[in-house]
Amino acid sequence: MAKVTTQQITAQRKIQLTALLLDDCGSCHGRTLMGGLGPALLAKNLQGKPDELLFETIKNGRLKTPMPPWKNFLNDSEIEWLIGQLRTEIWQQKLSSIQVLSQQLMRTNTGKENVK
Ligand code: HEC
Repeated sequence: MAKVTTQQITAQRKIQLTALLLDDCGSCHGRTLMGGLGPALLAKNLQGKPDELLFETIKNGRLKTPMPPWKNFLNDSEIEWLIGQLRTEIWQQKLSSIQVLSQQLMRTNTGKENVK
């Protein structure tokens, strides 16, 4: 995977990829990537798993499992970028703040406070 030359990924594409990660990947791996039908994809879960394995899994999927191939939607650089994101602690922090926000939202919606 270190062999793949990383192309420039535009800021706009990074936003799309992040949305894809949370929406599409999240539909199986959990909306905050804490796991669901598929395993959790947080940095700590991926520790000790080589980039090559993750790359291969995302690109070609895993036969006989629900993990689909993404090669028609993502190029090699984009897959690499996604793996980098998953391994980033900052990303994990972002996810936990999203979680906190959604929990607060749920509490607000179900709480006694009158919200319009
Ligand atoms: C339809 C459900 C589904 C979707 C959508 C999906 N996955 Fe998966 N994924 C799985 C399952 C199930 C596994 C476990 C496969 C196995 O049993 O080995 C998996 C495994 C993986 C693994 C290997 C994890 C490990 O610990 O070895 C990675 C990395 C991964 N998925 C990334 C992604 C990414 C990135 C996306 C979005 C681009 C995505 N997946 C979308 C179901 C899904």
